[in-house]
Amino acid sequence: MIQVTDNIFHLSNNNYSYAFCVKEGKLIHTYYGKALSIPEGLLQDSILSDCACGGRDWTQYETGERGRGDFRLPSALMRRQGCVGTDFVYKGYEILGKKEPFGMPALRDGGQTLKIMLSDEVMKAALYLYYTPYEEGIARRAEVVNLGDFPLTVEKLASASVEFPQGNYEAVNLSGRWGAECEVCRADVVGGIRILSSERGVTSHQHNPFLAVLEKGVTEEYGNVYAFNLIYSGNFYIEYESDEKSQLRVVAGENILHGGIVLENGEKFVTPEAVTVFTDKGLGGMSRLFHRLYRRHLINPKYADKIRPIVINSWESVYFGFDEKKLFELIDGARGLGIDTLVLDDGWFGKRDDDASSLGDWFIDRGKLPGGLGPVIERCKENGLKFGIWFEPEAVSPDSNLYREHPDWALHTPGREGIQMRNQYTLDFSREEVVDYIFGAMKAILSEYDISYVKWDMNRPLSDVPDNCVYDGYVKGVYRLYEMLDSAFPDVLIEGCSSGGGRFDAAILYYSPMIWTSDDTDACQRMRIQYGVSMCYPLQTMSNHVSVCPNHQTGRTLPFATRGAVASLGCLGYELNVAELSEEERAIIKKQIDDYRDNADVILGGELYRLLNPFTDGAFCEEVVASDGNRVYFVYCRLLNRPNMPLARVKLRGLEENAVYKIEERGKTLTGGELMHAGILPGAGCEDFSSVILHLTKLN
Ligand code: DGJ
Repeated sequence: MIQVTDNIFHLSNNNYSYAFCVKEGKLIHTYYGKALSIPEGLLQDSILSDCACGGRDWTQYETGERGRGDFRLPSALMRRQGCVGTDFVYKGYEILGKKEPFGMPALRDGGQTLKIMLSDEVMKAALYLYYTPYEEGIARRAEVVNLGDFPLTVEKLASASVEFPQGNYEAVNLSGRWGAECEVCRADVVGGIRILSSERGVTSHQHNPFLAVLEKGVTEEYGNVYAFNLIYSGNFYIEYESDEKSQLRVVAGENILHGGIVLENGEKFVTPEAVTVFTDKGLGGMSRLFHRLYRRHLINPKYADKIRPIVINSWESVYFGFDEKKLFELIDGARGLGIDTLVLDDGWFGKRDDDASSLGDWFIDRGKLPGGLGPVIERCKENGLKFGIWFEPEAVSPDSNLYREHPDWALHTPGREGIQMRNQYTLDFSREEVVDYIFGAMKAILSEYDISYVKWDMNRPLSDVPDNCVYDGYVKGVYRLYEMLDSAFPDVLIEGCSSGGGRFDAAILYYSPMIWTSDDTDACQRMRIQYGVSMCYPLQTMSNHVSVCPNHQTGRTLPFATRGAVASLGCLGYELNVAELSEEERAIIKKQIDDYRDNADVILGGELYRLLNPFTDGAFCEEVVASDGNRVYFVYCRLLNRPNMPLARVKLRGLEENAVYKIEERGKTLTGGELMHAGILPGAGCEDFSSVILHLTKLN
């Protein structure tokens, strides 16, 4: 709901209130937090005077600006000839009946949207701020337009900036590396500035565009949390400053590098969308809000909450070393297991026997596949499988025909030799003709063959970017290719991937309903990675595969059951040579898939409760409660065994206190109260990495 009274703006629903007002032409932020039932009382003098005291340097602004007395982190940085810094003044507002598209991925089906109009007469620029309240949180973005005759350079324009009053705060962010994405980092907020950012041209393995601000002492289920996520896949920042009064300002947006983006008269710069949620129910409550919001309004509705294809992926099964015969063995091996789709990963095109060549040459390698893909797809069909295929559309190998024909299509700075990573360059996706060519090449394969699934990989950050517009245009080029593929092949599901989770972000999820979570398929590591990713992103977006042991990344061996249990908390798949499995292992896979299918509606559409923290509790334990509350899917996995271990009970959550639940595996009934307050012994074995899955059914 949007209410406007006497220049006081109040966005609210049952979960939150967000308020700001106009004072002396400036937008003053006044409140963000639990829903206030009497909004008219929101801006009593006492509250407002806290927000606008001590001059510009302490005032809580809706947009911080550099150069006019507010010295904290700005949300706008602009310059033109003879003028540095801005002073935007409120001009008016509009309430738009529904959220308008603005050319970038964003939350869908937005209703009423508040548009605030500001202008800076000296800078000759107009600034528009957009706020769309959803039930779970608020979507925000901004636009600046050059109204002057001089070029206007935009060095920074935040999608969102939020002020917090004096207090004790902590921050949670998701940082990591290849094979260990999204580790949960929690730290006290102390005086100073901290910046989470990517300057890699892509979201990055290193820092996810997510930040949660916690009132000190927040737990998994209790306490006030204010969280931010950007719907963007390129350079970004989410930064915060705790000032000398312990006030906190959070600013988030696209990271404009190398001197900014220049706007000529009438041109505009549009920021990506930022999402913010508030909860008083701790980190778990925050995650459930993000999950619900993204399930309802981000994921393409044709996939949301629905079971995704259960795949057998060829990468860890056979890597580059396949031919038609090997693929036939894999396909025949998958028969009868319940698998839906074979995904042929890297290595099917050009002359790609290792990672040293052929990216960009999207033509079938007739040496490996003399009959093309036709016989492979036929064999899939005979075995009840569909067919999917891997592309790395943005990449080009120096050893490729594409590069030899169009060396200038690779990102490069004239006069310098390009930097190779994984023996490859990146195509300049800010150029339309490059994206058009790649679309044409993909289209040729997708039209010729019966293909229902594409894995879109991206295996290196950008270097040799000649200027910032290329960074910005590159990301838009990626979105354009997604749009073109989606309209030409609406029935092809595109799985996102970037060396695992290097581009696990909300913008990719707008197009791809699932993303390969990590190249680390060791279930022990995956417990941590999936725990971290789940802070912001729903289970139904995580692509998780059961792989062979000893694990290829860590050398560790975990029980097959545990590998399946961990992978089941997301989009289940397999990535091992099914042709080499024992009958016993085949039977386990079949059972895992049958059980997963029976519970996919709960897992993918339910509410997640993280019961134990694998970083600190020596075990991983998650529970998903069906959206109607009638079923519960419970997974417990021990990490390392210790002798004489205490009998640790796990307390469930999110149940109805007085309802009776049957634990199917134990034939026992317990009330929701007993399960939540007394807890249960999970009953996994004592061995390292033993696990248990329980299914609970509500009886009344
Ligand atoms: C990186 C991906 O994360 C892997 O799953 C696999 O597709 C390889 N690239 C192939 O080169």
